[in-house]
Amino acid sequence: MAQEESRTIYLDYAATTPVDARVLEAMLPFMSERYGNANSLYALGRDAYRGLEDARERVAALIGANVPEVVFTGGGSEGDNAAVLGISRAAVTRGRGAHIVVSGFEHKAVLEPAEYLGKHGFEVSIVMPRPDGVVYADDLRAVMRPDTALVSVMHANNELGTVMPIKELAAVAHESGAYFHTDAVQVLGKVAWDAKDLGVDAATFTGHKIYGPKGVGVMYLKRGTPYEALIMGGGQEGKRRSGTQNVAGAVGFARALELMEEERETENPRETALRDRAIQGILAMPNTALNGTLDAHLPGTANLVIKGVEGEAMLLQLDNRGIAVSTGSACSSGSLEPSHVLLAIGCPPEIAHGSLRLTIGRFTTTEDIDYFLDVLPPIIERLRAMSPVYARMFGNGS
Ligand SMILES: Cc1ncc(COP(=O)(O)O)c(C=O)c1O
Repeated sequence: MAQEESRTIYLDYAATTPVDARVLEAMLPFMSERYGNANSLYALGRDAYRGLEDARERVAALIGANVPEVVFTGGGSEGDNAAVLGISRAAVTRGRGAHIVVSGFEHKAVLEPAEYLGKHGFEVSIVMPRPDGVVYADDLRAVMRPDTALVSVMHANNELGTVMPIKELAAVAHESGAYFHTDAVQVLGKVAWDAKDLGVDAATFTGHKIYGPKGVGVMYLKRGTPYEALIMGGGQEGKRRSGTQNVAGAVGFARALELMEEERETENPRETALRDRAIQGILAMPNTALNGTLDAHLPGTANLVIKGVEGEAMLLQLDNRGIAVSTGSACSSGSLEPSHVLLAIGCPPEIAHGSLRLTIGRFTTTEDIDYFLDVLPPIIERLRAMSPVYARMFGNGS
């Protein structure tokens, strides 16, 4: 479909973020003159090694980790796979039971490795979020077993923006002697994140949600946590993740995280205000509702249902007006299945189809939100007027 207007209003920061110019500037030397392999012993290699280790130290300081506990990876999906598979298998080797627990609305990068383990000798229990989009400690306790090897619950949900009580959940896992992993991809930089304070054994982060590069991430792996490497080979990253390190990516990740930390105090309230402006505007339309509680929530994320509208149709019409939003997880876009996250919080499939996720970020302005709020209602009205489902549900008024 040809775009009618040249402006782009990007409201999908949970899918990915642009690389901040300051991050790019920090990375560029490591993509040009400082190109050595960080494992080579000559000067060029030692220089790259210094860049890599400096990035590791900075990340460690920012996430409350010891330096060797920071493992650079190829992103969030890799980190999730590595943590779920690597810790569960190694824990069993050390005598834990072959039982793991994951929440029902994890990212597929956790759910699929869990399913894989389920087909290869493990028992997998699911702890469901409640309708407010939060996984509670009591619900986790109810599925724990004395021999559970690993629990994995995400810190913030990528579709809803709800934030879990991770410290409490980790404590519940530890009561049974299980290890605790959290996918903290969406939360990083948006809350003060301290591994020691939270008490987690492992966590996953990715660069491209914090204005850093794609294809680089960090796995936090607490000292002493059993772990079998997913990627084997040259033994880099303390044998936990083989492969020549992406030094520029690691440097970019560290710089990106520093900027998130530096700007959080002003940026979080700014994004929250824009998010609330958007939510109010949308809820002013009939037959709309918010998904998930705002009580424990990321600043820039909003997930709503617009009843009687196909999410994909709405997305394409907004795209035609230069507005980028999501109707489910970015990672599963292209799929017409209703979002497993919305189903997990009890949203009926026909309603889940009409979900709209907006994520506001560093470069979103009030004008962007106002433009979006001008453009959206006529699109909704048009789609509802054509929708037999909407007519059946609510009559013809929109
Ligand atoms: C919660 C969560 N986990 C994992 C990922 C995957 O990260 P990556 O795209 O770096 O593989 C995403 C990306 O959307 C995410 O939102």
